[in-house]
Amino acid sequence: MKAPLQWGVFFCLKIALDINMENYKNKILVTGGAGYIGSHTCIALHEAGYEVVIYDNLSNSSFEAVNRVSSLIGQPIDFIEGDIRDADSLRQVFAAHQFFGVIHFAGLKAVGESVAKPLMYYDNNVSGTITLLKIMAEYEVKKLVFSSSATVYGDPEILPINEDSPRSCTNPYGQSKLTIEHVLEDLALSDNSWSLIPLRYFNPVGAHPSGQIGEDPNDIPNNLMPYISQVAVGKLDQLSIFGDDYATVDGTGVRDFIHVTDLAQGHVAALNYLKQQKQSLGFLPINLGSGKGTSVLELVRAFSAVAAQDIPFQFVGRRAGDIASCYASADKAQELLGWKASLSITDMCQDTWRWQSINPNGYNSI
Ligand code: NAD
Ligand code: WQD
Repeated sequence: MKAPLQWGVFFCLKIALDINMENYKNKILVTGGAGYIGSHTCIALHEAGYEVVIYDNLSNSSFEAVNRVSSLIGQPIDFIEGDIRDADSLRQVFAAHQFFGVIHFAGLKAVGESVAKPLMYYDNNVSGTITLLKIMAEYEVKKLVFSSSATVYGDPEILPINEDSPRSCTNPYGQSKLTIEHVLEDLALSDNSWSLIPLRYFNPVGAHPSGQIGEDPNDIPNNLMPYISQVAVGKLDQLSIFGDDYATVDGTGVRDFIHVTDLAQGHVAALNYLKQQKQSLGFLPINLGSGKGTSVLELVRAFSAVAAQDIPFQFVGRRAGDIASCYASADKAQELLGWKASLSITDMCQDTWRWQSINPNGYNSI
């Protein structure tokens, strides 16, 4: 081959390789992507140029959420129905796609249910994650963003809570998240080629501004925001506020509510950060919260104003296991990821109310 031709072939090959590398860098496996936070994150990932493959067993979600994500992004989304405890099924997925990394939402999340069925929670959440990690190792995919929770901080001694705060949990759900964090820490220590980012979410609420996707609890909601919105839409009679004698601004519990679309952007920021790194990150926990505390009564009043109606409530005794106050220091997310929550409590209430009004029975409304 003549020299100019050789150079031409070389450059064509290089461009093809670069394009291939870029594609590979963009493909993400999203376990639990049909769920509440996962579905919003899939949209944010698509908008940021990532290609998404959802892997979900639909144990706590509906295929209708996947349909709606597809409509919102204007193209079908790749969906595989499967369980993270099923190693063979995961192997098939990893063999068929070359992933840059995994965002791992799949898990059970109801605190009360976890107390009644601890084995189910440890099996699903801990064993499932270990199976996923083993298959990732087999296929040399060593970047993971994991859905952890502020619950790993237990009852915090110092507020706002930063990532170095002591960790402890009082229920099997929380223990399952903390155990997974320990597994990730040990894995990172054993092999420095892993980048493992547990994102510790505070209290995710809200819905996509279209009103097409949102939180759709199976039974009577355990969490505050869906309870309020179901009272507002007339499905539930009144809210019980658990405790009015906490040492807080008005005696009710204080939490760090974060809009689910802000949370979704936090995942995009974590992936972008992973892409920029020349070296592996090891175990790198990051809080995703707004950094602001809002009381239960303040949230009820904000929702009332948005829905233009009173939310009937009564004060009842404290709920076992609840803490008075919990809010994040979100400095690490801003410093490392350039991420900051941007949406207000009013935005959270407006978007929840839009979703709940259009879909009074969630994804079963149609
Ligand atoms: P979700 O229940 O709506 O979504 C979880 C998804 O995982 C569901 O679609 C479910 O079908 C799927 N799933 C569960 N077990 C699975 C398995 N074995 N194999 C495959 N798929 C499985 O919950 P969410 O609110 O979207 O939460 C997502 C993650 O974030 C969970 O891990 C949860 O523990 C964590 N988290 C949630 C909150 C919150 O308040 N929503 C707060 C902190 C952390
Ligand atoms: C918030 C405040 C309640 C319901 C839970 C999990 C945590 C994380 C997020 C996954 C508290 C009060 C609630 C009601 C009320 N999930 N409340 N009446 O408890 O902060 O966190 O979800 O990781 O692990 O524990 O959220 O929405 O249940 O409660 O008065 O009907 O609202 O007492 O002060 P919580 P929540």
